[in-house]
Amino acid sequence: MLNENLTRSKISKWLRETDREKLTELYDVADRTRRKRVGDEVWLRGLIELSNYCRRDCLYCGARASRRAERYRMTREEILESAKLARDYQFGTVVLQAGEDFALDEAFVADLIQEIRERYQLAITLSLGERKDSEFVRWKEAGADRYLLRFETSNRDLYDAIHPTAEGSVFQDRIEMLKRLREIGYEIGSGVMIGVPGQSFDDLANDLALFRELDLDMIGCGPFLPHAETPLGRIEARNGEWRTVSIHGTTSEDQRGISLSTDKSFKYPTTDGQAPNDIETAFKVVALARILCPDANIPSTTAVATIDETGGRKGALERGANVVMPNLTPKKYRRLYDIYPNKAAAREEAEKTRQTVLKQIREIGRVPGIGSGSSPRFLKRRA
Ligand code: 5AD
Repeated sequence: MLNENLTRSKISKWLRETDREKLTELYDVADRTRRKRVGDEVWLRGLIELSNYCRRDCLYCGARASRRAERYRMTREEILESAKLARDYQFGTVVLQAGEDFALDEAFVADLIQEIRERYQLAITLSLGERKDSEFVRWKEAGADRYLLRFETSNRDLYDAIHPTAEGSVFQDRIEMLKRLREIGYEIGSGVMIGVPGQSFDDLANDLALFRELDLDMIGCGPFLPHAETPLGRIEARNGEWRTVSIHGTTSEDQRGISLSTDKSFKYPTTDGQAPNDIETAFKVVALARILCPDANIPSTTAVATIDETGGRKGALERGANVVMPNLTPKKYRRLYDIYPNKAAAREEAEKTRQTVLKQIREIGRVPGIGSGSSPRFLKRRA
């Protein structure tokens, strides 16, 4: 039976499934579950990418601290302008996202939250990385509603290999942090990258089982997209292992933007079956997430739209997703938030992205949601 009682090994088997008919069945169940549990509305969240400064050095991310990238930080007024767009467009929510930029301090963010609430009455989702407990508390009091913190992978060895601990800080357990965020009163969202080198099908099945265990309100997943100016974007398979391609001996042109501190070979955990970072696997993850967590809000993510702008965004919405996060970041900053390359809508105005998304929603017979669109899971838990 295809329902939320799926065992890990069944989940893993679905992730490996190649039979078209079987996959059609999986996607049909996910789509029916979506309709029955969260309806035909597609919730729109205006995404504002506040800053690409980051103190962390994650091996896959284009915003990693040691990359010599051009950095920006939006001003208070720019952020409020973008939030106003969300209100004008009738998006019920803004998502404030950034790297772990400590210039976005407790007071600055708290003031933003209050101001956005007062002026525009929008629901507010934060996606600002691992922050201090006191900040989480203060921001909730200031009026924030939701917090997104992907745990990226439940495989601890793989997690450690790709997330070096920031200098002068200690390892923080994101799972514990998510539980704490829930305790504080946030709707909590998490998710993983799909097809990270070293991630097996079983790892991905464990990730999905953990979504269910954590009883997440929101689940966002997208394919890993190699970024050439990061260590994980320059790896190759050798003797059944992933290794970073040494930057030694290459031209200086080639070294552009890559810190020499990463100029060594990393060895990644060997796995029997590497999970692919393709669109089909992303669709399977979305469908299984819907079946396992039927009342959660699940976005069709930018990473999926980056692989295939039309087929990807619509495809995920037809296989379990019920949220889209159109980008409202001012155009001049968009290309700088290149956590991965060729990001969908990286070069267009907010209005254009909005039009495209609304058209795609209509084309698949769905309707844009009006209101804040809290997760039905969250509302049920509170009832
Ligand atoms: N490919 C795909 N997703 C990425 N992210 C960061 N870098 C990449 C990449 N190279 C995702 C992470 C992070 C989210 C904001 O973006 O999952 O949590």
